[in-house]
Amino acid sequence: MRVLVVGGGGREHAICWKLAQSPDVTELYCAPGNAGIAQIAKCVNIKATDVDGMVNWAKDNAMEFVVVAPDDPLALGMVDALEAAGIPAFGPRANAAIIEASKAFSKELMKKYHIPTAGYETFTDLDKALAYIEAQGAPIVVKADGLALGKGVVVASTVDEAKTAAREMMADKKFGESGSTVVIEECMTGPEVTVLAFADGEHVSTMPASQDHKRAYDGNKGPNTGGMGAISPPPQYTPEIAKRCVDEIFLPTIQALKAEGRPFHGVIYFGLMLTPSGPRVVEYNARFGDPECQAVLSLLDSDLLEIFLACREGTLDKLDIRWKGQSACCLVLASGGYPLDYKKGYPISGLEEAGKSAVVFHAGTAQQDGQTVTSGGRVLGVTALGGTLEEAIANAYTAAKPISFTDMHFRTDIGRAF
Ligand code: AMP
Ligand code: GLY
Repeated sequence: MRVLVVGGGGREHAICWKLAQSPDVTELYCAPGNAGIAQIAKCVNIKATDVDGMVNWAKDNAMEFVVVAPDDPLALGMVDALEAAGIPAFGPRANAAIIEASKAFSKELMKKYHIPTAGYETFTDLDKALAYIEAQGAPIVVKADGLALGKGVVVASTVDEAKTAAREMMADKKFGESGSTVVIEECMTGPEVTVLAFADGEHVSTMPASQDHKRAYDGNKGPNTGGMGAISPPPQYTPEIAKRCVDEIFLPTIQALKAEGRPFHGVIYFGLMLTPSGPRVVEYNARFGDPECQAVLSLLDSDLLEIFLACREGTLDKLDIRWKGQSACCLVLASGGYPLDYKKGYPISGLEEAGKSAVVFHAGTAQQDGQTVTSGGRVLGVTALGGTLEEAIANAYTAAKPISFTDMHFRTDIGRAF
């Protein structure tokens, strides 16, 4: 089968790496890809958000299956457009991807179907939002409705901070139209875990749980990033909690989307907070998380293509998906300054040596004059397994040692910060 993967980060490298192991994948393409992906797939220079460009290229080059990995093209309806052109595609259609693209929509869905989440109100009027913040007091959470590159959430410890956030989103349009509507919600407490699940519109099959590290610096300090590392599975996610999550959150969510005429086919991301009163949803995403994907897919024994096809066809319940009973750690090596200003174009050394004891997924890399150079904020994700979580963490840090580039930055406490 001729397969195209849309995207070009660490997550897409992990998806390509796993698909390349499938005997049914005869040719693998990735748009736009990166320097690491180019070693296992043919990279095509089309932006992930270019829906028309992608559909036309896929048609012209007789793609038989397209995997849409990032949030933007899913929200833009790339899966709908591919299917309309007769090309089978993996990922939710736009009417289901809305669970990530609109926080107001997903909160309304959870309220209607009694899925546990933080109490909230939605506002389009700034004065009403300010009055609500005043009445509720702090701590309180202010969220822009739409996609804001993970930056549209302010967990405010004072009323003034919350009001400033609401003003910036609603009046100053800090996130453009994404902030015309804001969701203001109760502040929850407890450890956060991610559960990714394959979904076929009707059934869900959960992957091992994982845990991201969103802050830039050790001790969960500094600005929010796309994720500085991930482990799987986190010890806090016990079998008892998992059972509650399936019964109270995962199945009800899939059934709710189906009942609303928005069947979800793809990978659904449950961002959960394990609060003193039980697990609750922080957010839904309509895709694999990055870097959670790199850790979790490293633990998959089964054929990923077969699972993707079953998600599209509604036959997930017929599959026996097998996982290695091990732990995984993905350590992100980032450009100094990320997520704020950083320079690109620095040569990276030590990749081959590191690759002997771990899988080094590329995120922001490019090929320049025969050299692999940095080309983004998150550069690499060094991913290792172990019999225990401690072993996986130690293996990832040991494997990363030979890698260096100017101003390289990473957290030293992945898996130990909670
Ligand atoms: P989100 O983009 O919705 O995942 O929010 C980003 C981060 O903000 C989450 O990973 C949480 O750490 C935090 N957060 C979001 N909503 C809440 C909430 N209601 N209570 C406490 N923390 C929250
Ligand atoms: N790592 C968080 C996300 O992909 O949304």
